[in-house]
Amino acid sequence: MAYDNILVEKRGKVGLITLNRPNALNALNSVLIGEVNEALAGFEADDKIGSVVLTGSEKAFAAGADIKEMSSLTYMDAYKGDFITSWDNVSRFRKPIIAAVAGYALGGGCELAMMCDFILAGENARFGQPEITLGVMPGAGGTQRLTRFVGKSKAMEMCLTGRMMDAQEAERSGLVSRVLPVDELVDEALKVAEKIADFSLPITMMTKESVNRAYETTLAEGVRFERRLFHAMFASEDQKEGMAAFVEKRAPQFRNK
Ligand code: HXC
Repeated sequence: MAYDNILVEKRGKVGLITLNRPNALNALNSVLIGEVNEALAGFEADDKIGSVVLTGSEKAFAAGADIKEMSSLTYMDAYKGDFITSWDNVSRFRKPIIAAVAGYALGGGCELAMMCDFILAGENARFGQPEITLGVMPGAGGTQRLTRFVGKSKAMEMCLTGRMMDAQEAERSGLVSRVLPVDELVDEALKVAEKIADFSLPITMMTKESVNRAYETTLAEGVRFERRLFHAMFASEDQKEGMAAFVEKRAPQFRNK
């Protein structure tokens, strides 16, 4: 399937989506977001895909929502069209999805990366929520997800001043899981995604669901949710295979059952 604003590939069991609007630093317009959603729906439905990597260019993961598209929007346009809500599809994608971020991840770009399960950053990555400089605030989850990642003080400072965070600060603050040389970023992200895709897909999906639950509920409820899914895993063939393989000192052959 050919798209205008993204590149979509399959690398074995890994789906790779590359944001590709180089002239606008991958600014996120409605067409691009529609294409990302369509590509994700394809990967969701494809039994052979076990994980996804979302990346941009070395200069920009994405420099935000497309300001030119957004600038003349009225309140009624935004309300009636439910502006931004379709972006949330990324956070509802059920298979593991990794953001590989080099260069700018600003505004909606930072928010899109935070919708993924974890972020691997290139050494040149710059994260920020500069919406305040445009007379708005983050609208795709930034005030909520950034606060959960880095805590109130840093999130508040970034949202109120528009200050950018470099990759090292982002790693120190827990926004990204690891920092890598820019020229190794996508290869490493693909390797990590491949490792995940080699595990049992239903088990990785349940694991993702359980970790995400930690953001939405109390500790006691979250632990109860985890316990239910953990118990359910003993109904899977892959649990039997994984544990038998350990005992028999061989590699497991997961069959996603
Ligand atoms: C539309 C954008 C854009 C954006 C860059 N471009 N960011 N177009 N929307 N968000 C375009 C520029 O207009 C320019 O096109 C080209 O990309 C290159 O950008 P330059 O500014 O010339 O590059 P540079 O000098 O390297 O500066 C890079 C930058 C700067 C610091 C990232 O582009 C910048 O500040 N961009 C805006 C960042 C931002 O405010 N993001 C938040 C958006 S609001 P032309 O045609 O002029 O050459 C947002 C709201 C989210 O995301 C709420 C819900 C989603």
